[in-house]
Amino acid sequence: MKRERVILHSASAQSTEMRTIIFAPTGRDAELMASFIARLGKACHIVRSVEELCSAIAEGAGAAIVAEEALRGDAIQQLEPALADQPSWSDFPLILLIAGGRVTVESERLRALRKPLGNLLLVERPARPETLSSTLETALRSRERQYQIRDQIRRAAQAQDALIKTEKLAVTGRLAASIAHEINNPLESIINLLYLMRDESSIANIRQYVSQAEQELARVSEITKHTLRFYKEPTNPVDVDVSAIVSSVIDLYQSRLSAARVHVYVKASRSPATIRANQGELRQILANLMGNSLDAMRLGGILHIRISTDSSGPQRSNRVRLTVADTGPGIPKDLLPRIFEPFVTSKGETGTGLGLWVTGELAKKNGWVIRVRSRSGTDQCGTTFSVVMADV
Ligand SMILES: Nc1ncnc2c1ncn2[C@@H]1O[C@H](COP(=O)(O)OP(=O)(O)OP(=O)(O)O)[C@@H](O)[C@H]1O
Ligand SMILES: [Mg+2]
Repeated sequence: MKRERVILHSASAQSTEMRTIIFAPTGRDAELMASFIARLGKACHIVRSVEELCSAIAEGAGAAIVAEEALRGDAIQQLEPALADQPSWSDFPLILLIAGGRVTVESERLRALRKPLGNLLLVERPARPETLSSTLETALRSRERQYQIRDQIRRAAQAQDALIKTEKLAVTGRLAASIAHEINNPLESIINLLYLMRDESSIANIRQYVSQAEQELARVSEITKHTLRFYKEPTNPVDVDVSAIVSSVIDLYQSRLSAARVHVYVKASRSPATIRANQGELRQILANLMGNSLDAMRLGGILHIRISTDSSGPQRSNRVRLTVADTGPGIPKDLLPRIFEPFVTSKGETGTGLGLWVTGELAKKNGWVIRVRSRSGTDQCGTTFSVVMADV
């Protein structure tokens, strides 16, 4: 017999997804069934072998009507993988035309054999047209529901993809903004140093300014390199002396501190506080926190910097706490929960709102914890940031 695919189309051409596959190889059963289904206004497709049935299911179908005698021999074992291979949303409906009558040893044996076929709907023969049509309706309706779930899953996946893309774009924007923000401090210092050099007659002083300017330039290149690496690969941590970092950042801000008449008190624990970290990152964190305190104390005030060691944790690991406390006006309550978000600033044109965001990201990357306490609108107002660092 010539193997051909017979596709009977109803008035409205239905998609492959909702067609009914017919597998009834004996006599004219398949053709009769096909014309019956066509009269119901549904698409169908006749197959002549289990292999064809399996590939038709894989191509897409709404349901299949299979005559029981077509599943003799190892046909069920052949069909099983095709049905087991379905995606999670799919439970392909299979209408099996079985012999009617009493329960016999043979009918029980067949029942056990059919179990792996999953979503089975049994129709006894001779089948009444209403029984067959309503069973087919039920099967196709359940299939339609499965397709709806599939579409929902696809839409959710697409939305997720779009979200990831947006997030990637946001990261790129933040990367550019954070480089710009971080190199601004050293650049400002260099401008100041050049200004001081202009009217300086002492060669010794000029040498000192040049060397400071060189250090600041080295910082610019370190920041750009680190910020780029921050998004790519980790850097090797080294033992960093936290007090030395504090002194170097105080030096950096020396002229601003004296101009604003801010007194700095540094209290360090007796034992030297070292932490395995990236020196540049710790410097960036401290420069941002001190920069904010200075902005907050333009009319004078006191800046307390405390360094304490702590190895009392469960693993007795080395930990260093760095605290920066100022006597500025404090952070307003409504702003406080958002200060670590990018672009949150109360400084208008003069602030980018990225300092604390960068600080928070650097701390997160190293597994360090930053806490903030702030009081505003009272006599004893001020802000305290503390960073608890552990070896990375
Ligand atoms: N020590 C502080 N005292 C008072 N307000 C603070 C202090 N630290 C942070 N803030 C508040 O948090 C906001 C966010 O700080 P952040 O460092 O992220 O940005 P910024 O300082 O405004 O801008 P930039 O860092 O670019 O100069 C500040 O605008 C300020 O309102
Ligand atoms: Mg800032």
